[in-house]
Amino acid sequence: MPDPGPGVGPVPEHVAIIMDGNGRWAQRRGLPRVAGHRAGAESIRDVIKACRAWGIRYLTLYAFSTENWSRPLEEVSALMDLLVEYLDRELPELKREGVQIRAIGRWRDLPERQSRKVQAAIEATRANDKLVVAFALNYGGRGDIVDACRALAEEAAAGGGRPEDIDEESFRARLSTAGMPYPDLLIRPSGELRISNFLLWEMAYTEFRFDQVLWPDFRREHLRAAIDDFRNRRRTFGALPEQGR
Ligand code: IPE
Ligand code: IPE
Ligand code: MG
Repeated sequence: MPDPGPGVGPVPEHVAIIMDGNGRWAQRRGLPRVAGHRAGAESIRDVIKACRAWGIRYLTLYAFSTENWSRPLEEVSALMDLLVEYLDRELPELKREGVQIRAIGRWRDLPERQSRKVQAAIEATRANDKLVVAFALNYGGRGDIVDACRALAEEAAAGGGRPEDIDEESFRARLSTAGMPYPDLLIRPSGELRISNFLLWEMAYTEFRFDQVLWPDFRREHLRAAIDDFRNRRRTFGALPEQGR
């Protein structure tokens, strides 16, 4: 059946999602938490397909935060294994479908096996341009801001710039999200009403949508509902509505 897409009106250019609720999904079924993480991969699949079909250009998925290292070792290892499993299984299709994979955060500090896989996926899809899917891996918004400050300071110390040359654009260019537009819409499933250190700088003017559904049950219908909601928001970026921004 052809996908009717999300009704009339423009779609957001960049959607960001905090993929939350895997553990509760599993616990409600009497399953180990990892079963929820595994089931979440199917949600990723459906959401990527929908974004591609509906013309969304950027999708950023929060997969592992810098704070998630404080979970039990067993769960952290399972998540690391799932990352490799996911990339091994999905990469051929993502490649075929024109998806460009990116990673944000301190993903290079993941265990070697994981960081190599991520690097390989980025390289294998670099020329694709249908949809950019950025995985936030070992990501923290505060850490990303600190890393950008450090990069600017290092350049200045090496004689490459003066403090007065630093502005929002030069700062933005050193974040791991450099080159991507800011998110138009953030979706957090699972009922939690917080941003948990995600995209702190980038979400200054993002529209928020919170949903009760748990991530493993999230499908394109939930994305469609979020987009419908987004279309009813009035975004003025500090100006007045009649100024037509
Ligand atoms: C999100 O699901 C996945 C990661 C944080 C890696 P959770 O594991 O946080 O699930 P809940 O919030 O405990 O239900
Ligand atoms: C945020 O979810 C991180 C990811 C989804 C990767 P958490 O479950 O870790 O966030 P808190 O602990 O509820 O704030
Ligand atoms: Mg959670």
